[in-house]
Amino acid sequence: MAEEIREALSYDDVLLVPRFSNINSRKQVDISTNLTKKIMINLPIVSANMDTVTESSMAISMARHGGIGIIHRFMTIEDQTNEILKVKRSEGILIEKPYTLTPEHIIKDAKVLMENKNITGILITDNVGRYVGILTHRDLMFEDNLLKPISEIMTPKDESITSVPNINIEAAKKLFKEYKVEKLPLVDKNGLLKGLITAKDIMKKDMHPLASKDKKGRLLVGGAIGIKGDYLERAEALINAECDVLCIDIAHGHSQFVVDTIKALRDKFDDVQIIAGNVATAEGTLDLINAGADAIKTGVGGGSICVTRIVTGAGVPQFSAVLDCVKVANEFGIPVIADGGIKQSGDITKALAAGASSVMLGNLLGGTEESPGQTIIRGGRKFKIYRGSAGFGSVMSRKQRENGNDDLSDVVPEGVEGTVPYKGNVSEVLYQLVGGLKSGMSYCGAHNMNELWKNAEFVKITSAGLKESHAHDIDVLK
Ligand code: XMP
Repeated sequence: MAEEIREALSYDDVLLVPRFSNINSRKQVDISTNLTKKIMINLPIVSANMDTVTESSMAISMARHGGIGIIHRFMTIEDQTNEILKVKRSEGILIEKPYTLTPEHIIKDAKVLMENKNITGILITDNVGRYVGILTHRDLMFEDNLLKPISEIMTPKDESITSVPNINIEAAKKLFKEYKVEKLPLVDKNGLLKGLITAKDIMKKDMHPLASKDKKGRLLVGGAIGIKGDYLERAEALINAECDVLCIDIAHGHSQFVVDTIKALRDKFDDVQIIAGNVATAEGTLDLINAGADAIKTGVGGGSICVTRIVTGAGVPQFSAVLDCVKVANEFGIPVIADGGIKQSGDITKALAAGASSVMLGNLLGGTEESPGQTIIRGGRKFKIYRGSAGFGSVMSRKQRENGNDDLSDVVPEGVEGTVPYKGNVSEVLYQLVGGLKSGMSYCGAHNMNELWKNAEFVKITSAGLKESHAHDIDVLK
């Protein structure tokens, strides 16, 4: 045992010292950052890979605002791949592989596909992939015979507006305006369907100028994988769905399992971006970087639903964990994601000022409309279920899915399940968090992340200081 017992601190134990600032407006503060060695995002916030936080709806919203979501892994490979595809198809300007049916399919097939994939139109092709028509909500509006073949109600090729595969955005906009259509199938000179552009996607591009996008203009998204069983198969399916980054999701990431997993991924997929964790120490950071990680996720036991530190006695208060991991990660130019324990916007500023490049949020996003957690009403107020990945509820769902059993006698939970207040849309929550963060950076005289890292000066505070920090000596109305 090491003789000296170090002191370790949490976000609540410290404050940032206000510095000279010449920032007059939050607009002057740039919060773009590196998620991994190669991936840049415009908002340093990542939604957690938890089953009550991130599926496609959350991931789409996060990426539209400049951040990114990591789709959790507690579902079949097929379901997780579908969630990735939903994000990828949500608003790329060019949808390379639009959903299609053939004219022989019936209306029921079209309705099911539209509902499952959350789309408003389907392109119809023959069995060699030649474009033959389009079916939209409008065609289906008053149609109640679900057994009728699509050929009878679709808008056929000759009556629909199409274009060539390499049309540019401005030319597409013109066609949408002139013909008042919402979908533009792209067809090559042999009549083969080569893609789709939608008016909605062009509008969304204008509405979300800071969205995190890949090279093809589609939203960025990550997918979580484990370290055992089908993890390589899962990784391959996610990569084939063009998932931008894999996140190894393990509570104790400083392990041989994770080192081997990173190496196996590197061997098999070469240039895949890998977020590895979770670790809470300099040694853990070094070992995962040496194995080939492109970002380190830091945090053991600090999450709002975590009881790891209580059940196992292990963990490191999060502020110190971030400082320790960053020290090593910086030597290799590898970004650190501070994961867990963020209770308010000020904690985001502190985590980033401590050297993290982004933060991962579970609790603060769990109450939003876009989270997959169940909504409940209690005492006339709306709440959403939020639960730890290592809690009874989550583990039971997994056991039921994987082997149809819900025997929990061999489970030692390291997470709890509870409710968080309903908070409306992600955009409202992010607006407040970003506002707080940018003001925090302004207090540090920082126009961007580099200046924040350079200027940050922390003081350690006492419990009296923490009491003074919160509103006090008043009955707060709201
Ligand atoms: P917040 O504080 O945002 O933290 O709720 C989210 C992070 O908590 C971690 N996590 C867990 N940790 N037991 C744990 O010890 C669990 O059951 C558990 N589930 C999630 C995870 O790192 C997440 O991003």
